[in-house]
Amino acid sequence: MNSLRVLIVDDHEATRRGLRSLLSSRSDWEVCGEAEDGMEAVEKAIALRPDVVLMDISMPRMNGLDATRVIRRDLPASKVVIVSQNDPAIVRRQALGVNASGCVSKSDLSRELISTLDKLVQKRRSGETADSQGSLAAESDDQKEFPERPAADLELARIERAQAERANALLAAIVDSSDDAIISKNLNGVITSWNEGARRMFGYTAKEAIGRHITLIIPSDRRDEETKILERLKRGERVDHFETIRVRKDGRKLDISLTISPVKDSAGRVVGASKVARDVSDQKQIERTLRESEERFRAIVETTSECVKLVSADGTLLHMNSSGLTMVGADCADEVTGKSFYDLVAANDREKFRAFNEQICRGEKGSLEFDIVGLKGTSRRMETHAAPLRISDGTVVQLGVTRDITERTRAEENLRRSEEKLRELAEELETQVRVRTKELEERNAEVLKQSEQLRELSSRFLQAQDQERRHIARELHDSAGQIVTVLGMNLAQISQQARENAPRIAADLDECRQLAQQLSQEIRTTSYLLYPPLLDETGLQEALRWYIQGLTDRSGLDIRLDVSADFGRLPREMELVVYRLVQECLTNIHRHSGSKTAVIRLVRDGEIFSLEVEDAGKGIPPEKLNLLQLQGAGVGLRGMRERIRPFDGQMNIISNDGGTTISFIFRLPGPPAPSPENIGQEVQGFLE
Ligand SMILES: Nc1ncnc2c1ncn2[C@@H]1O[C@H](COP(=O)(O)OP(=O)(O)OP(=O)(O)O)[C@@H](O)[C@H]1O
Ligand SMILES: [Mg+2]
Repeated sequence: MNSLRVLIVDDHEATRRGLRSLLSSRSDWEVCGEAEDGMEAVEKAIALRPDVVLMDISMPRMNGLDATRVIRRDLPASKVVIVSQNDPAIVRRQALGVNASGCVSKSDLSRELISTLDKLVQKRRSGETADSQGSLAAESDDQKEFPERPAADLELARIERAQAERANALLAAIVDSSDDAIISKNLNGVITSWNEGARRMFGYTAKEAIGRHITLIIPSDRRDEETKILERLKRGERVDHFETIRVRKDGRKLDISLTISPVKDSAGRVVGASKVARDVSDQKQIERTLRESEERFRAIVETTSECVKLVSADGTLLHMNSSGLTMVGADCADEVTGKSFYDLVAANDREKFRAFNEQICRGEKGSLEFDIVGLKGTSRRMETHAAPLRISDGTVVQLGVTRDITERTRAEENLRRSEEKLRELAEELETQVRVRTKELEERNAEVLKQSEQLRELSSRFLQAQDQERRHIARELHDSAGQIVTVLGMNLAQISQQARENAPRIAADLDECRQLAQQLSQEIRTTSYLLYPPLLDETGLQEALRWYIQGLTDRSGLDIRLDVSADFGRLPREMELVVYRLVQECLTNIHRHSGSKTAVIRLVRDGEIFSLEVEDAGKGIPPEKLNLLQLQGAGVGLRGMRERIRPFDGQMNIISNDGGTTISFIFRLPGPPAPSPENIGQEVQGFLE
């Protein structure tokens, strides 16, 4: 196949037309496109993929050599034939330098263009041009592409070209593997090369960037930088580590460090520039963070109310914040910094502070309280917390944060004194309280003892009373009662005799006998009231019935006695107590309640025994009841309590205007109650 697709690149329309007409002589050749400058050439070549590009050199925006480089790199299958008006020898060298496949002088176009292209077609057909490098060396062996060259010259050119290609390849590899963005541009600011690093850094691919103006990556507010850079480049100057901001394809701004070097042609003219851009965003961010952190730290140090200071190992004060300056009475830092801090420490603490400072500068942490005497003679108590700090020159100094504790120390001292005083007072008070407590305890014990004695006395009194009543009752019954009985019997006998002998006296004697009988009756009643013999004789129930009957007769009170079934007998002392309780309750009802009725309930449930005496009277007024509950009044009720105490009994009074109920509960003692037989024997003795 001889077909050929040709892209014509020339800034002159007339030349393009001439080339078109030359090529039209071959029907199987097609002009696939035209471009007016290097940049358009690159764009069209990428778009059209021509077999051959006929490339002029001198063109606006991007020259033909730069465009050829790009096309050969990015489209190795597209061959480039340089078509130039320049000196053929120079053009040839230039063409070799950019890996063009041939060159034709414009003056020889009509003669050589077709044959040069024919040669290319043949080579392509024979496969020689299949190598991706677009081997100008092989092609240039053929004089048709680079005519009129002597063999030695060509050999030299071939070696040079090979070396140049290796160097180019190496350079390209270095450039592409660099992390830095490496960009070249011409003096018009048009990008002519763009490495991988540039793609990573700015986001544009080489295709997108080459041919565009460098302002592609310059933020609008920094465009004037480019003008200045270009001016310096034109003067052949290099721009080193210029830190600026560039913008990525995605709009993100980058902090970069730029190094820009002028690129010169073989004649030493500046034809463009190479830029090496390094992304220093991270470094800038670190610097910013560090600066902010330093500023923050400085602000904290300056605004803290504590003294922050740096003291070197020999005691020289290196830095002190404004709070510290105020504490030491300095009007400005110069009055104290650079001078010995030891001089500010009170003489008695100076050695201690020196040792402390040296210890910190040896790398230990610590804290210390010490006195200072400020520049204006004011003494202060200080408390410092210090840590070692390595400063820029590598030495370790003391970083001390010191607080003025004068007031606190004073307050602590006052507090300590007050506490001391308080403690003394408390101790004194405690002693007094202890003494008083002891007194009270003793007094209390005495009162308890007295009350115990009183209780004992009262109990003995009750016992004595009972014994005495019993004794009197027995005496009345046994002695007076017997005598009166005998007296009665004698009087009856005398009366019998008198009726026969002296009937007048008999009537008087009858009267005397009746009086003696009446007296015997009275003695018996009094004796039974003092101690009813029935209690010992037949037990509590009978004694109570006898007593109730007597009281009913004497008072007209309607009294009911309820006794639970199988009540049986209680221990003797207990029966006497219960009898006395009922006696006292009924007496109270009769004397105080105004009730016409009374109910006595005796209930026995196993070991529990209870007594209840209830009336329907006016009740005990609440305030009086309170006093009675507190055992504050009433000898009768108090006596009842005393009576039940030995039996662990409980007494309770419920009273209101509907009546009063006094109840008692006892637990019967363990040993069985004395048998009725024994009681009978005892009663027998009492009655006889
Ligand atoms: N059933 C009752 N109804 C109304 N008031 C009563 C009743 N029992 C007692 N009181 C009141 O309680 C008071 C105290 O009674 P307590 O038996 O202790 O003393 P007293 O009967 O006044 O005197 P003492 O019993 O020593 O002769 C009585 O004065 C009375 O006011
Ligand atoms: Mg009473």
